[in-house]
Amino acid sequence: MGEGAALIEIRDLVRTFGGVRALDGVSIAVAAGERRAVIGPNGAGKTTLINVITGEIPPTAGVVRIAGEDVTMLRPWQRARKGLGRMYQRNELFPPLAARDNVALALAVKAGPYRPLERVPSTQPRAADALLERVGLAGREGIPARELSHGERRQLELAVALAQAPRVLLLDEPTAGMSPAETARITELIASLDRGLTMLIVEHDMDVVFRLADRIAVLHEGRVIADGPAADVRGDVRVNEVYLGKAVATA
Ligand SMILES: Nc1ncnc2c1ncn2[C@@H]1O[C@H](COP(=O)(O)OP(=O)(O)OP(=O)(O)O)[C@@H](O)[C@H]1O
Ligand SMILES: [Mg+2]
Repeated sequence: MGEGAALIEIRDLVRTFGGVRALDGVSIAVAAGERRAVIGPNGAGKTTLINVITGEIPPTAGVVRIAGEDVTMLRPWQRARKGLGRMYQRNELFPPLAARDNVALALAVKAGPYRPLERVPSTQPRAADALLERVGLAGREGIPARELSHGERRQLELAVALAQAPRVLLLDEPTAGMSPAETARITELIASLDRGLTMLIVEHDMDVVFRLADRIAVLHEGRVIADGPAADVRGDVRVNEVYLGKAVATA
């Protein structure tokens, strides 16, 4: 892959918090259509990396490019307009609102920040229901987000992220806190999404990572210590030492 072909290109990113170097010179390129996992121990810098890509946290140094364009100085909503969508590590739904209204709100935001309410298309509830069906929530449209199970809320968050019609989907621990059955369900949901949708997935569950990712980057103390095809990273001795442990060494 030539570097010009990258849909997301991160170059020499540094982010410090006081004395902590959460990102310490990270460079990663994600090609269009690629499904890239970012793994690493707690505190490795994974969420910080996603926040710097989305623009929620400015980098101390370094560059973020989307489709070749330097977006480092752009606000999060401007990057969303360029096709970045995300699902958070922790819940970002509106708890009292019905599942359908959480998605409809995301569709309205996508339609434009200054659009008068009366001009929001009446097709939005139908579009919202279609997205809910896509993530396995058919029949749950009218249930307030707070009454959904944890797994269902994560499915709803995926629908909210998809409502932005992103070119790139950033997923921060989509299976966090899920039961094995919930994990299997959302993993297959993500696997079944359009192959043209580029993904960057932060995930601790290695079964999920190997199911979803074409390539894997390994972060350790703010640095990339391995980056390559999933099968190569699985066999990397240093990765096994710092992160994967026996589970993979014996696989
Ligand atoms: N807002 C912040 N203020 C101060 N320190 C922070 C902040 N955000 C992150 N850090 C620190 O930066 C480092 C990286 O944190 P980050 O949340 O990116 O790790 P992570 O890889 O996502 O970990 P986890 O797997 O636990 O989610 C940690 O040492 C963390 O304490
Ligand atoms: Mg994190």
